[in-house]
Amino acid sequence: MNIQHQSLLRNQAYVNGQWLSSGVTFPVTNPFDGAIIADITDCGSSEINQAIEAAQKAFKVWSGFTASKRSRILKNWYELQRKHAKDLGTILTTEQGKPLAEAIGEVKYGASFVEWFAEEARRVYGDVIPGHTADKRITVIKEPIGVVGAITPWNFPNAMITRKVAPALAAGCTVVIKPSELTPLSALALAQLADEAGFPPGVLNVLTVSNPLAVGKAFTENRAVKKLSFTGSTRVGKLLLGQAAGQVKKVSLELGGNAPFIVFDDADIDLAVDGCINTKFRNAGQTCICSNRIFVQDSVYDAFVSRLAEKTRQLTVGNGMEGAQVGPLINEAAAQKCERLMADAAAKGAQIAQGGGRTSGLLFKPTLITNASREMAIFEEEIFGPLAAIYRFETEEEVIASANDTDYGLAAYFYGRDYARIWRVSEALEYGMVGINTGVISTALAPFGGVKESGIGREGSKYGLDEYLTVKYMCWGSVK
Ligand code: SIN
Repeated sequence: MNIQHQSLLRNQAYVNGQWLSSGVTFPVTNPFDGAIIADITDCGSSEINQAIEAAQKAFKVWSGFTASKRSRILKNWYELQRKHAKDLGTILTTEQGKPLAEAIGEVKYGASFVEWFAEEARRVYGDVIPGHTADKRITVIKEPIGVVGAITPWNFPNAMITRKVAPALAAGCTVVIKPSELTPLSALALAQLADEAGFPPGVLNVLTVSNPLAVGKAFTENRAVKKLSFTGSTRVGKLLLGQAAGQVKKVSLELGGNAPFIVFDDADIDLAVDGCINTKFRNAGQTCICSNRIFVQDSVYDAFVSRLAEKTRQLTVGNGMEGAQVGPLINEAAAQKCERLMADAAAKGAQIAQGGGRTSGLLFKPTLITNASREMAIFEEEIFGPLAAIYRFETEEEVIASANDTDYGLAAYFYGRDYARIWRVSEALEYGMVGINTGVISTALAPFGGVKESGIGREGSKYGLDEYLTVKYMCWGSVK
């Protein structure tokens, strides 16, 4: 791989400040051409237990540091991520497939969580509450919860790690990270930079594992792990939630989505088309907040579809390292899912207005599906691919009912100018995040998360820190 800082390329797990091998490996491939790019240590129960033990020991040291000291080390980590952004982006594109510019964008987005929480580390304030009797005083302090198990996905191999780890470390927790077995190299590169940044051994650990079940079980059953944070599918999130119930373990879950993207008749159509391209085709459609159902009001339907088709036609599909705007899907299962959803929609009366299949391998053409309807599987399922399904609607009431007709509730988007309607629609949408006249809602400054089956908890912003803190109340008596 063509990178400057060769030490970022690691193939062993990172436990207690050491690179650790289990003697067994699993391959990681480039989704663009299927080439094996690395053989990575496959951790078993011994390495998993060592990592949890190391994090437990390190917790005493790390939580005892002043917030300023933790903040300084986090800042070092942030600076190193910015300095090596191009290398981190190259590693990311090679294992995940997204275009290099997008990958570097993800690295900078990921680093922004580290910067934000390095600052927030020093603002973990408590409270003093007037007592309930004359001789009582009430104080409230916030304490780090302890060892955190973080399970992160392949679609954002860098930023979903920092979005969990930075607030955890800022709060004084220690972490054991289990990155996706499809994209462990980005996690190991981040561990290398953490090592250079000066975190004490055991504060941050990375377990590379081909069988995610073993880690999920350890994180939920080992009593030393006090909190589980997971980003991934709703199906796996439910399993982990069930397992965590055994110890009433604190969890954060960032799960699937089925985002509506609504265009009202008074919208700026060009702005809406740009927003649609962005929310639909970012990461080849493989984000939890990608628009999944595009609803367009009758009177602007044809204009919107024709401009969307024109812009979609211009998107280039290919190797993310060579300037393509849309990279490959992550694996064969993802491509077959797109094919199944497309065939089901066509069989139920939709038109494949553009695209409609692969160019080669895992490269899938940006596809427009018009005349979509609620009976189609694509209405209910999270697509996770570059298929844009477009539905026609007439009234505000009708589109709100359709938009909310899903078990998911992560992100929603709408375009329109009438300010009263903007408030009505924002309030009526049963979602954790709403983009109004914008398709770009992700930032370290705002609370990312969903309602319904899209998850529990928030990441980023001041709310993101609370997920790693417990509240302790002290009642002072006999104050005379
Ligand atoms: C996700 O798809 O889970 C994250 C998307 C984002 O942070 O923008």
